[in-house]
Amino acid sequence: MEIRTTHPIAVVGAGTMGAGIAQVAATVGHPVTVVDQDPAALSRGRASVKAALDTAVAKRRLEPAARDEIEARITWSTELTQVARKSLVIEAIVEKLDAKQHLIGTIARVALCNMPIASNTSSLGIGELAQALATPDRFLGLHFFNPVPAMKLVEVIAGPKTSQTVIAAMVNLMLAWGKHPVVVRDVPGFIVNRVARPYYGEGFAAVDDGIAPATVDAAMTGAGGFRMGPLGLADMIGHDVNFTVACSVHDAYAGRTRFRPQKAQRALVEAGRLGCKSGLGVYDHGKKLPVADF
Ligand code: NAI
Repeated sequence: MEIRTTHPIAVVGAGTMGAGIAQVAATVGHPVTVVDQDPAALSRGRASVKAALDTAVAKRRLEPAARDEIEARITWSTELTQVARKSLVIEAIVEKLDAKQHLIGTIARVALCNMPIASNTSSLGIGELAQALATPDRFLGLHFFNPVPAMKLVEVIAGPKTSQTVIAAMVNLMLAWGKHPVVVRDVPGFIVNRVARPYYGEGFAAVDDGIAPATVDAAMTGAGGFRMGPLGLADMIGHDVNFTVACSVHDAYAGRTRFRPQKAQRALVEAGRLGCKSGLGVYDHGKKLPVADF
């Protein structure tokens, strides 16, 4: 099995991750169809890709003609039937087991019978998601990181029944996309969302103990040497996504305390303060000032 960068692919979910995956795929040459059930999400996805490409042109990292070609390679649609006759479908919808299983089952019925189907899940079991499929050998996890165009790492997750041919083809494809694929076992949180979970949790716990969010983030990013602090990073991920993943990993490890989600994470979600995508999270992304009362 070989997937070339000229082959058409589909991405389902036009949110933070789906739009980023589509941008990277179209940049290397794939015709990409992005499907989302919400027309407003498609418009936001298209606008975010356009903004990212315009920034690259403004910084002289991309020619205007190349930007136009990349944009023209992406089709935006509400029709799931558009995943037919593609060489690969990547699912990047909400982190909910039943929603993903239902969608993956539908994709399998519409798509070519031997075509790989990948999930960008952060924390759900690949084996569990594959239960929606009669042919689980073609299903795997392809876990990109945010922002997709900038982050090299991709966790390639083999479920119990994923064929080695599919894993090898995906590793080669990710290399062709300029990514750094790491093949990972199907354990809760894989590598990054297992190891990094306490980073967010303890960041929120430090705020709960009275340390200002900006002080926590500055300590980690300054002398600490981390690229982003836990609270700014959680704002970028989106608290709805981050809290759901925190709960999922906590459940999967039978409630180990180091994975326990913090009260503030739930409070932010319930207040609709989702982070960068809603303009307000731990920080106010309009004014770029810390907002301490959560
Ligand atoms: P998001 O909330 O920004 O986007 C999800 C999109 O899926 C929305 O546009 C929604 O309309 C769409 N959607 C929901 N159900 C659908 C359906 N049945 N059919 C078609 N479209 C549907 O979420 P985000 O942040 O892009 O996350 C997507 C996936 O990627 C999740 O599994 C998440 O855990 C994972 N992920 C997220 C990261 C992050 O930093 N946000 C990092 C790595 C993985």
